[in-house]
Amino acid sequence: MPTPASGRGFLWLSLVLSSVCVALGSETQANSTTDALNILLIIVDDLRPSLGCYGDKLVRSPNIDQLASHSLLFQNAFAQQAVCAPSRVSFLTGRRPDTTRLYDFNSYWRVHAGNFSTIPQYFKENGYVTMSVGKVFHPGITSNHTDDSPYSWSFPPYHPSSEKYENTKTCRGPDGELHANLLCPVDVVDVPEGTLPDKQSTEQAVQLLEKMKTSASPFFLAVGYHKPHIPFRYPKEFQKLYPLENITLAPDSEVPDGLPPVAYNPWMDIRQREDVQALNISVPYGPIPVDFQRKIRQSYFASVSYLDTQVGHLLSALDDLQLANSTIVAFTSDHGRQSMDLVELVSLFPTLAGLAGLQVPPRCPVPSFHVELCREGKNLLKHFRFRDLEEDPYLPGNPRELIAYSQYPRPADFPQWNSDKPSLKDIKIMGYSIRTIDYRYTVWVGFNPDEFLANFSDIHAGELYFVDSDPFQDHNMYNDSQGGDLFQLLMP
Ligand SMILES: *[C@@H]1O[C@H](CO)[C@@H](O)[C@H](O)[C@H]1NC(C)=O
Ligand SMILES: *[C@@H]1O[C@H](CO)[C@@H](O)[C@H](O)[C@H]1NC(C)=O
Ligand SMILES: *[C@@H]1O[C@H](CO)[C@@H](O)[C@H](O)[C@H]1NC(C)=O
Ligand SMILES: *[C@@H]1O[C@H](CO)[C@@H](O)[C@H](O)[C@H]1NC(C)=O
Ligand SMILES: *[C@@H]1O[C@H](CO)[C@@H](O)[C@H](O)[C@H]1NC(C)=O
Ligand SMILES: *[C@@H]1O[C@H](CO)[C@@H](O)[C@H](O)[C@H]1NC(C)=O
Repeated sequence: MPTPASGRGFLWLSLVLSSVCVALGSETQANSTTDALNILLIIVDDLRPSLGCYGDKLVRSPNIDQLASHSLLFQNAFAQQAVCAPSRVSFLTGRRPDTTRLYDFNSYWRVHAGNFSTIPQYFKENGYVTMSVGKVFHPGITSNHTDDSPYSWSFPPYHPSSEKYENTKTCRGPDGELHANLLCPVDVVDVPEGTLPDKQSTEQAVQLLEKMKTSASPFFLAVGYHKPHIPFRYPKEFQKLYPLENITLAPDSEVPDGLPPVAYNPWMDIRQREDVQALNISVPYGPIPVDFQRKIRQSYFASVSYLDTQVGHLLSALDDLQLANSTIVAFTSDHGRQSMDLVELVSLFPTLAGLAGLQVPPRCPVPSFHVELCREGKNLLKHFRFRDLEEDPYLPGNPRELIAYSQYPRPADFPQWNSDKPSLKDIKIMGYSIRTIDYRYTVWVGFNPDEFLANFSDIHAGELYFVDSDPFQDHNMYNDSQGGDLFQLLMP
């Protein structure tokens, strides 16, 4: 396994947002291009904290763990909406979904909501060479079919050519035929083009780093990996790391009694895969056969380990090119299942700007549709330890004052075919959720998609879970808390 970047790397490891690692040198606040820090932003698709650095005992992720070991790792980082396109547009613009007005896959914020600046655009405007490799913006109309070019990037973004096979019939089933399966360990020499998208992205990113080695300008390189998003299409040798007999079942796979039906995600995307279809699993609640549950977990973990080796190659290149000591590495997922302080992905923009010594965009007014450059998140600079500075500016806030906000749309009160990903016009209900260190509190309220208006007096359902006594969120206390007791329950 390659050894990832050592030295003064920085990184912001983030899962559902999760982490930031940084060791800042004293020269980092300078503002001349000669000693400006480069940025390597690694974005992973659907990675939850199934990593050694988050205490997972089964998953092998030595490269990411090593990155985390000299980084600031966020333990409680939350995405603003757990869907690829809305989440990415939110954290890349530093605005919440209610400001980007993107809850689905069908609009481009610059024409639909406001001409908001993006993180790479801001670095580009400050003299950086900005480059995109793989899935950074969600492809399609949400980034105007160009990954927001030319605004965000100095060159046209790179997409791996083998990406087009991700959802095609390239998985060898027990019947010897090729299928479009959920579980898809492959022999890489046998697949179309003899490679996989994330391998190609790593190769391209390494080539760009080599070019940047001699560049007079600092760089901002964003690398977006596709795995471990479904389908689990990965080199089959990674499966051997996880013998089926060693795979435990999810600790809490039952649907909790007190869960309001509007909150349930019927995982329609998974049901469309050929191997899952063959199981004839009842809609919407399942269950999935226990053997298959184990296989899903095996392939998810194998995909994470495959991803981890790609991250290892990338960080080794940064080391070999002697760029590690002048590059801030930020690592994040667009979402995953949620697992120090609470932070939100929307804070990535002001934090990266602050770490690089650029002016931190001002706080957004409300509303802020007319303002191109402002931040809805926080500058998390104070979380980073300045190892080389005598004075330690780490000033933890009062954790009880911290809140992370998320939201999720639904087309109906009961699970149906489009519950996971309703189009804007079909959104009837919006779930607004706050997470504090003590509890998660969610209200599902009426939503008008023409006006983008939530009606908080039209409450469809509510959820309240206490973090310490109910970590898996099995006991919904919302109804117990009605009639005036809620305030008392939530008092710290
Ligand atoms: C949106 O912002 C970009 C980048 O600053 C700028 O080039 C463009 O003219 C703006 N578009 C509008 C309609 O204001
Ligand atoms: C989106 O792309 C189209 C086609 O390339 C282009 O004409 C249009 O100006 C782009 N939109 C913005 C806001 O740049
Ligand atoms: C599987 O579990 C056994 C028993 O705990 C252990 O000895 C073995 O190392 C495990 N295999 C792997 C690949 O983790
Ligand atoms: C699928 O399951 C339903 C009900 O659970 C049953 O009625 C149906 O016959 C099954 N179909 C197949 C092909 O097994
Ligand atoms: C980074 O390390 C390289 C090689 O060790 C060295 O030449 C260079 O001066 C260092 N840069 C900084 C900013 O410390
Ligand atoms: C650094 O320089 C750029 C371009 O001259 C300027 O826009 C930016 O505000 C400066 N940043 C700081 C922190 O002074």
